[in-house]
Amino acid sequence: MELKYPLIALNFKTYLEAIGENSLKLARIAEEVSKEYDVGVMVAPPLLDLGRVVKEVEIPVFAQHVDPYKPGSHTGSIIAEDVKAVGAAGSIVNHSERRLRLADIGMILERLRENGLISLLCTDTVQTTRAGTALGPDALAIEPPELIGTGIPVSKAKPEVVVGAVEAVKRINPSVHILCGAGISAGDDVAKAIELGTEGVLLASAYVKAKDPKRVLSDMAEAALKAWERR
Ligand code: G3P
Repeated sequence: MELKYPLIALNFKTYLEAIGENSLKLARIAEEVSKEYDVGVMVAPPLLDLGRVVKEVEIPVFAQHVDPYKPGSHTGSIIAEDVKAVGAAGSIVNHSERRLRLADIGMILERLRENGLISLLCTDTVQTTRAGTALGPDALAIEPPELIGTGIPVSKAKPEVVVGAVEAVKRINPSVHILCGAGISAGDDVAKAIELGTEGVLLASAYVKAKDPKRVLSDMAEAALKAWERR
């Protein structure tokens, strides 16, 4: 399965609103919006809900994290082979809430590649974006941690960071798809992200905790498409 751009990547984290049955509901809404607007939408449900969400929807489903290990004696770990076995399309790597060392990131990207899985690498600064891009992930999302969960959109509050990351990726490895995230809350924030040169966004709270997640995501999808056409 391939990711489609512009992409709205939805990380459900471990919000109560996304646990168990709720995860399925949010994933189904994401699928509906993806189909209605013909825009890329990916979901990353809590890890224990991964398998059943995959069975339920046709859009790409990602793990939120995967460990760098090969199959074997690693109690309590999640390995790329298992992500593949449940039918997921790929994994988020090095999210700010699940930081990793560079050597482990390199190993995880290799493990995902070996298993035909897509990698979405998170970075926190333009500098780490340079290092991350050189490792050759399929996609990369720059997310300044101080804006995560604040509702203050990175695309408006720190456009220089987004532009810096876009430029770094284009210069070092233009085949890497670039997203931005942190505080993305409305269609306008998504449009701005695309205007700055990204191919979409990664977000969590504005969707997962919304009173009307379908409306929020539909606004974002519409804005993403319009900004994409204007590029
Ligand atoms: O993975 C997405 C994330 O860290 C941003 O979170 O809640 O600011 O959209 P949020």
